[in-house]
Amino acid sequence: MIEPVEIPIREKNIVLIGFMGVGKTTIGQLVAKKLYRDFIDIDEQIEKMYKMPVTQIFKELGESKFRKMEREMIIDLCKNTRLKIISLGGGAYLQEEVRKICLEKCIVFFLDLSWDSWRDRLPLIIDSRPVLQNKTVEEIEELFFKRRDAYSLHNSKISTNDLDPETIANDIVESLKISWDIYQPHGE
Ligand code: S3P
Repeated sequence: MIEPVEIPIREKNIVLIGFMGVGKTTIGQLVAKKLYRDFIDIDEQIEKMYKMPVTQIFKELGESKFRKMEREMIIDLCKNTRLKIISLGGGAYLQEEVRKICLEKCIVFFLDLSWDSWRDRLPLIIDSRPVLQNKTVEEIEELFFKRRDAYSLHNSKISTNDLDPETIANDIVESLKISWDIYQPHGE
């Protein structure tokens, strides 16, 4: 049997997970800049591939096609790249295969925002998030808490309430540097 190659912790991709609109893309871009790494936003990659926004992909091709595409793209990136900062769409991590590969090959950060703070963002994001459309606030709240089960499988949780993206990105970078130094001190 061929043993899987163990990726040095300093080279592992960093994956950001969390509910829609918590700031994964903005924070991911900042983390990438601070660490001089490339940033990849899965939704943006899918939009580029299909040359249409996610809302239109959902409408014209259906959610299951979108889910298949995001799953395949994430698995490919986790298996074949290193040193990237990757922001996942909020629903991607509900797929078991995605969770498995991310936890095996990458460092997963859960961006945790409270329901009360998140609810204020709803009007700003609803038009571009098909999953939120045609739902009552109560249904969205149920989805918000239901998804926490999947998000609870992570390497590190960052509470983002009342914090600006710059501070959150700095927190992520600091926490990474601590674990890099613990698990792979410089020179090893
Ligand atoms: C989705 C989240 C979106 C996008 C799509 C579906 C979800 O990404 O992938 O609209 O099911 O949570 P963001 O988390 O970046 O909003």
